[in-house]
Amino acid sequence: MSRQLHLNAFIMPAGHHEAAWRHPSTQPERIHDADYFHQIARTAEAAAFDAVFFADSPSLSPAVAHNAVGGLEPITLLASIAAATSRIGLIATASTTYYEPYNLARLFASVDQLSKGRVGWNIVTTAADIAAANYGLDAHPDPVERYGRATEFLDVVTKLWDSWEPDAILLDRAAGRYADPDRVHPAEHVGQRFRVRGALNVPRSPQGRPVLVQAGASNEGRAFAARFAEAIFTAHQRLADAQAFYADIKAAAVRFGRSPDGVVILPGISPFIGDTEEAALALEREFNELTIPEYGLRQLEQLTGVRLGESALDGPVPAELFRDAGDVTDNGRSRLQVVAGIVERERPTVRRLLHRLAGARGHRVFAGTAEQVADTIEEWFRGGAADGFNVMPPFYPGGLELFVTRVVPLLRERGLFREEYAGTTLREHLGLDVPRSRFAQEPLGSLATGA
Ligand SMILES: Cc1cc2nc3c(=O)[nH]c(=O)nc-3n(C[C@H](O)[C@H](O)[C@H](O)COP(=O)(O)O)c2cc1C
Repeated sequence: MSRQLHLNAFIMPAGHHEAAWRHPSTQPERIHDADYFHQIARTAEAAAFDAVFFADSPSLSPAVAHNAVGGLEPITLLASIAAATSRIGLIATASTTYYEPYNLARLFASVDQLSKGRVGWNIVTTAADIAAANYGLDAHPDPVERYGRATEFLDVVTKLWDSWEPDAILLDRAAGRYADPDRVHPAEHVGQRFRVRGALNVPRSPQGRPVLVQAGASNEGRAFAARFAEAIFTAHQRLADAQAFYADIKAAAVRFGRSPDGVVILPGISPFIGDTEEAALALEREFNELTIPEYGLRQLEQLTGVRLGESALDGPVPAELFRDAGDVTDNGRSRLQVVAGIVERERPTVRRLLHRLAGARGHRVFAGTAEQVADTIEEWFRGGAADGFNVMPPFYPGGLELFVTRVVPLLRERGLFREEYAGTTLREHLGLDVPRSRFAQEPLGSLATGA
């Protein structure tokens, strides 16, 4: 079969558009309701999507006055969705800066078991610096420190996930032997930041261990992603930028001794879909008209470090502010570049820039017919910019339903996307190998075949 797209549904409770919760088509009153998420996940599963995905920050966004933020903890949500679905992958974000490795390894390993091997961990060092104050810190650590901790954290977590060899459970009732202690290995980790004896108290999952997902964009973040990530989320506005990122990450992965196919790259796309292009643009305008400038300005400041006043909404954005915004925090630098690019190319008014970002915080918003959405997906996929997409509907649940009923059939007609699942685990959906336990006494393959 020809190379196939991977599609991931990035779930933002009411939708990715910042005003989605105000639109009559959305259901913000249901965003703490398990049934609501089950319904969305089942829609994505019926279309054979690779996974659903939840972002996270361990802090309440100050934007709560004007948006339906303050959602459920995502690993908990995955456990609930696991029980309501049977095939779709389940990816949640969790922070290496604000978790302890043993806690995190145990939580993900448990949901990986509950879901029979469908889990992925989106590894973040946390973008929102306000989280620091929830954990007794005066300041959010700088990127070098955060990624240093993330690297050792990941080493500990994967040791813990590896601690049970695949055949460690003997279940020998007659002999009274449940597990072979020689095949359950303590992590015995003593490092610069962590001391963890192990072993983990959850056995190895049907997919070996959870899939490692990452979205770093700084130099430290990209290096981390190229070295460890098996799937990468990324935000690009233009084909050329996405192609450069794709080539850069695949080449860096190869330098780390990895196969380029072992890293699945998924840019975001937030599609407004209409029967005609005009109808799609009108729908986008309808959402943009519901935005609250005060909220947009705050988001802009959070994304880029640039503060603009409400008084000059219909004046041009002063481009030099973005060119000179050197003192923005490091974790904002990459999205600053995306926004600076929009300002440079489009010379928007402040209001227009806020509308450009309202759709998906700097991710690519695309308004068009289903054919046009399928065309751009195909162009990026065939053009060396993407292995698939992180689909970010501007509004839920209707935006996802439109995508699966209108765009997915076109992708199938073009031979680009599966009709049904071939496997059962997230690794199988993404075409990833089962990683061998570092403690395994025999290679997994020979154990499986008896060779
Ligand atoms: C699709 C996508 C989802 C992300 N989700 C989160 C998230 O849930 N929590 C978070 O703190 N950061 C999230 N990020 C931010 C990245 O983890 C990363 O911090 C950011 O891209 C900046 O890169 P850097 O960490 O290398 O500076 C996300 C980024 C992308 C592209």
